[in-house]
Parts: sequence; C-alpha cells; structure tokens
Amino acid sequence: MSESYKTELLKVDRGNFDPVCLLPAAKLLSEGELVAFPTETVYGLGGNAEDTTASARIYAAKGRPSDNPLIVHISEKEELLKVGRDVPEVALKFAEKFWPGPLTIIVKRAEIIPKTTTGGLDTVAVRLPSDEIARSLIRLSGVYVAAPSANKSGRPSTTRAEHCMEDLDGKIPMVIDGGPVKIGLESTIVDCTNEISENGVKKVKPMILRPGYITLEKLREIEPATEYDPAVIARVKNENIKAKAPGMKYRHYAPKGEFVIYEGDSEQVIAKINEEVAKMRALGKKTAVLATEESKDFYDADIVVSLGRRKDEEEIATKLFDVLRGFDEMGAEAIFGECFEFRGIGQAIMNRLLKAAGYNIVSLNGGKNEV
Ligand code: TXA
Ligand code: MG
Repeated sequence: MSESYKTELLKVDRGNFDPVCLLPAAKLLSEGELVAFPTETVYGLGGNAEDTTASARIYAAKGRPSDNPLIVHISEKEELLKVGRDVPEVALKFAEKFWPGPLTIIVKRAEIIPKTTTGGLDTVAVRLPSDEIARSLIRLSGVYVAAPSANKSGRPSTTRAEHCMEDLDGKIPMVIDGGPVKIGLESTIVDCTNEISENGVKKVKPMILRPGYITLEKLREIEPATEYDPAVIARVKNENIKAKAPGMKYRHYAPKGEFVIYEGDSEQVIAKINEEVAKMRALGKKTAVLATEESKDFYDADIVVSLGRRKDEEEIATKLFDVLRGFDEMGAEAIFGECFEFRGIGQAIMNRLLKAAGYNIVSLNGGKNEV
C-alpha cells in the first residue's frame, strides 16, 4: 500500500496548551488515518491499534517489516486490563510506580488487539506516555493508539517534528509539532510474560528487552528479580543470542558513514581516534567525531560534535539521535565515537550507539571497563 498526502504540520504551543487544538488530529486517528505526535521519549507514528488497515498503513509509511510488533498507547492506567489479559501483579506494580512515563510493559494480548498490531504475537506491549499532548490526543481520539517511533525504518528515532517531516512528508496526513522531546531515547521495555518456577511456585521474572530512561536499578526496587534479556547487554553481535523484542534484531539508527566506537582511557581514545582520522583524511574521506564537552577540543577532524558533559547522561540521551542524523546531513563518511559507561542510562545510550555502529567497537584497554 502506497498512499500520498499533503502532510499538514500542526503546531502546538505547550506554554498555552488547549487540548481542543488536537481535535483534527484525534479525528484522523478515529478514522483509521495516521498522525505523528510527540511523546516524552521520541515522536510516535500513531494509528488505531484495533484497526488492521491502520496498522498496515503504519508499516507501509515506515517501510517496516510487518513481523515487528507495535506498542499500544493508552491514556489511563486501567486500560492495561482492557488491551492485556491475565495481567500479573508485577505488571500492575510497574504501572502504578512508573506510569504515566517512559516504560512499556509487555503482557498477554487481549482479543481486541489484532495480531496485525502485535506482529503476530500473543503478547502486547503497552505504554501510557506522560507527555500531555500524547495523552490528550489518545484520550480525544477514543481509540488505543499503536505507535512505533516516527522514523523511516532503520533511521534514528525522531526527537523533533522536523525529523518526522524528513522521513514521513507526503506519506501521512499530519505531524503534530510539540517541539523537541524531553528524554530523546525510546521507552524502557519490560516483558512481564516470562514465567519461572521457584521452589515449585510459579512467578513472573520481568525481563528488560530494551534499556531506557527507567533503569534496571529502578525496576529492581519494585521487583528485585528483574533482569536484562541477554541480547540487550551483548557487546558483540552474537547470532546465537536471539533478541526477544523483534525490532531489536534489525539494523537500526545507523548513520550513512562508517561508524566505529573506541573504548579505553580518555587519552588513549583521543590519540587513537586522531590517528584514525588522519588515515581517513589521507584517503580523502570526510571525518567526524562523536565527542563530549571534556574531549571535544582535543580532536582534529572535519566535524567534531559534543554530546554534552560525560556525567550528564540525560543530556547525552537527549542529543544522541539528533547528532546521528546531523552526521548524514553534513556528509560524514568516517565517524569515530567515544564509549560511555554500561550502566544506568548509559546502558541505554550504549545499546543505541552499538546498534548505530553495527557493533563496531574497539577496546583499547583489553575491555577493562566491561561490566
Ligand atoms: O518510546 C517509545 O517506546 C516510542 C514512543 C513512540 O512511544 N515507541 C517506540 O516504538 O519506540 P518502536 O516500534 O519503534 O519500538 C518498539 C519495540 C520494537 O523493538 C518491537 O519489536 C518491540 O518494541 N515490541 C513491541 N511489541 C512487542 C512484543 N509484544 N513483544 C516483544 N517486543 C515487542
Ligand atoms: Mg523504532
């Protein structure tokens, strides 16, 4: 299915927000059409989760394989029980603590959500966003809203309306411009359908399928048994570890240029990257470095971009996708990046960076920083 639209950009003033301005967008959703909208994590490409035509439109507009399930967005906590079934206690506890907010909870799928929305799975990923535009839009539309990130499949997720226009202009009827998002990385996904037996008693062992702003440590405060899915923390591309979130197996976030990440002590990394930059320059390539405030002045490349102060992981997260898109715009051909700590929000940052670099990471200190 290939449709063409004159995409309308609906600007929303957050300082003076009146949900009424969202009515045209809500109407489109209720009619099975698609709308890109801001959430606190990234922009989403929304469609009616109960309507198989709408989900087909989402897959077509993104160019996304249809075995990759969509997250169902709701506007009230209780709706988890409508779109999911046999919802376990731990899922309710996570919802109580972290919703509305950047956490997606996977439970068993209720019949009202068709398999076309969940990529054929009997489970459903559910999220209640905290962004007031997102939440008002879902409420006003009167439907549950299936929404992947509003980017062309494979490209970095969109953190501004301009990015959505870059990827989706002409393919959907409307983009809501609510300005830049707050968090900049997609929600943490926790699977609450993994049952184990402990001393003969069945219990749910929650598994993180995608790290995000809600960290492992925060989830463990509610359920200490929570773990990362092994594919999440793999530092090399390992064909033997199968990603449980189907979307995590696809090539993702990649800039067009060759991208390598270096891990090691700061001085070592700077020296090595400068050496590699010189080699690439000699070959006539346009070089770029993904640096931090602390290191940016030490690099001698065509493009040097700082993600922020190394300690300020929230700032780094907010800028990451923006910077990766920027490299394409600037025509970077050889990109070199620094490594961040594999814990807390750093785990989410490194998860996205490793995918963007196709797991091309070089350890200069024998992997001393590994967790
Ligand atoms: O922050 C977010 O989660 C954003 C905003 C728009 O809410 N959405 C988002 O959706 O990132 P998307 O489609 O780009 O990523 C959803 C991921 C995919 O990797 C998909 O495979 C996985 O969630 N997923 C969805 N439903 C699943 C399920 N039932 N079981 C396992 N993985 C699932
Ligand atoms: Mg995505």
